[in-house]
Amino acid sequence: MTRHLLKLSDFTPSELRGIVLRAIELKKAGPNRGGPIAGKTLAMIFTKNSTRTRVSFEAGMAKFGGHALFLHSNATQLGRDEPIEDTAKVLSRMCDAIMIRNDSQADQEALAAASRVPVINGLSDLHHPCQLLADMQTWFEHRGDPAGKVAAWVGDGNNVCHSWIEAAPLFGFKLRIASPKGFEPVESIIKQGGDSVEQMRGATFAANGADLLVTDTWTSMGQEAEYNRRVIAFADYQVDAPLMARAKADAIFMHCLPAHRGQEVSAEVIDGPQSVVWDEAENRMWAQMALLEFLLTA
Ligand code: CP
Ligand code: NVA
Repeated sequence: MTRHLLKLSDFTPSELRGIVLRAIELKKAGPNRGGPIAGKTLAMIFTKNSTRTRVSFEAGMAKFGGHALFLHSNATQLGRDEPIEDTAKVLSRMCDAIMIRNDSQADQEALAAASRVPVINGLSDLHHPCQLLADMQTWFEHRGDPAGKVAAWVGDGNNVCHSWIEAAPLFGFKLRIASPKGFEPVESIIKQGGDSVEQMRGATFAANGADLLVTDTWTSMGQEAEYNRRVIAFADYQVDAPLMARAKADAIFMHCLPAHRGQEVSAEVIDGPQSVVWDEAENRMWAQMALLEFLLTA
């Protein structure tokens, strides 16, 4: 059966842990260009902007001696209403894996159902699983195994937050979430987090004694029309130095990027000593290389 990563919970805890540990190993050793990915092709469909996701997949495939194709929907027949299932059938006859960044998790599922090759979610309206592989790698590298630790999500209950919720029971840590009223994560996804996830009233309660603080933009791609409303609603949800001081003295700060200094995070925090955001960004590449190796050699 063809495996896909459309959301983190498509994989078991031991598979996820194995991918993260392999990513750490690849980063230390350097990839083998003569390895199993050599000569393989990854098709990358984008209907939205990207810096890290595009470059990390493309550079990762090159490092393995494979190839990645950048397919923006505007430049393909997908942008002229070719059905996503037909696109999947065609791409999966020529390519070894497909990555997609789009608006709709349901469309990703339709793509995967029609594909003969693994499909990877590079961000949808609901999830961003590749980001979490990199985030878990970064947490492991800086502070050891996340199991038993506490992370605090401060801000929008968005796609990245949903993947953090899924990660909590899968990696064995507790996740506290502080979001303004009306911007909470989707209820069914919170339920999936079970006892590992707790919603808190206010950012300071969430941050108290935490091992890690994490946030994301207040206005995700596609929500630009809500910008003014969101800036007001999220005013008390900035990760700044006083909030960081509520967490443990050795707490780390994460952000998937792109960041907006002065909104969801102060410059002092993101550019300060507790921030691990540049390692987090680099680890997108190593984590996805480990993921591709898993999917293409399984
Ligand atoms: N974090 C992330 O997915 O970044 P990009 O939007 O630049 O790909
Ligand atoms: N939540 C953000 C993440 C960007 C990587 C968005 O969807 O735009």
